[in-house]
Amino acid sequence: MKDAFLQACRGIRPTYTPVWFMRQAGRYMPEYQKIRQKYDFLTMCKTPEIAAEVTMQPVKILNVDAAILFSDILIPLEAMGFKIEFADSSGPKVSPTVRTGSDLKNLRPVELPIINFVFETIKILTKELDVPLIGFSASPFTLATYVIEGRSSKEFINTKRFIFSEPESFHNLMEILTDATIQYLIDQAKAGVHAIQIFDTWAGILSPYDYEVFCKPYVKKIVEKLKSYVPVIYFCSNTSGLLHHIKDLEVDVVSLDWRSDIRDACLTLNFQPLQGNLDPLVLLGRENEIFKRIKNLLIQAQCAKSHIFNLGHGVNINTSVDVLKKVVDFIHEFRF
Ligand code: CP3
Repeated sequence: MKDAFLQACRGIRPTYTPVWFMRQAGRYMPEYQKIRQKYDFLTMCKTPEIAAEVTMQPVKILNVDAAILFSDILIPLEAMGFKIEFADSSGPKVSPTVRTGSDLKNLRPVELPIINFVFETIKILTKELDVPLIGFSASPFTLATYVIEGRSSKEFINTKRFIFSEPESFHNLMEILTDATIQYLIDQAKAGVHAIQIFDTWAGILSPYDYEVFCKPYVKKIVEKLKSYVPVIYFCSNTSGLLHHIKDLEVDVVSLDWRSDIRDACLTLNFQPLQGNLDPLVLLGRENEIFKRIKNLLIQAQCAKSHIFNLGHGVNINTSVDVLKKVVDFIHEFRF
């Protein structure tokens, strides 16, 4: 198995910089669209042969150094009795919502056999792939925003109302989601994933004080439990003001969005392995502008013990497959 990605997760610099992309399987790719025209997104996630095929598409087509399981952060909610939907136009929906302490009684303990398809997909992939497989979950806080809002949100009014009016109950919700996430990730590790990424997409909506109280302890608990199984990557967005807290998480790799200066992050995070952090929309630009920025990023990220190239968020639907292929080749061939 190619192990540049796992070496970088452990703080070793391989001969070339490993690269993969968040949302590397998706609608920008004609091969994905072809399958997606026949099946809805949830059916694709729940059918191990299809999920495995779609996971492998970017590995074969783009030559990336890691695969990420084709699934979604909301999938484990089904194992807790929630209904999840992915309507084409309006994004994901979760029901029933949990917005007060008294709604907590509707939560069921996680029953992972309900989502056995995830572990079946992992087992197929570990036989087929020649690159490491990344498993994942949301952070408990990011997952909570979907459970509370019932959908994607801009202002997170219900989430913040819950935190600031019933903090004790909010902590109870976080405990429940944390325990479920730990079990879910341990089972992914046991099924064979080589690393896990925790997506904390919405951590940046919190003040540093509230991040420290309501988000950080739960991520830390997951990291403590998972680290003995596989390396843990923590993706966070809009969190340049939170980096001194993120340092305390002691994750193996911190994945940054493009709003963070990678050299500042390096210093604050004590030179630990970093992943990221090109603005995904740079890839819609002119090629010389794209490669100028990639080169600059590779050089700046040299201050970290190791660097895994990635975008600061998922691949945009308008991205050209051809450009992504050239980006992978450029990064593989780049020498300092
Ligand atoms: O990265 C990968 O290739 C692996 C698969 C993956 C998906 N979602 C597939 C997906 C991963 C790791 C995720 C994580 C995820 N899902 C996050 C965290 C990362 C981030 O983007 O911030 C979040 C917040 C979600 C929730 C979610 N799922 C939203 C908001 C949407 C709708 C937006 C959209 O692009 O349609 C989804 C749907 C989704 N998840 C799709 C895919 C490929 C699109 C499904 C389709 O219609 O084909």
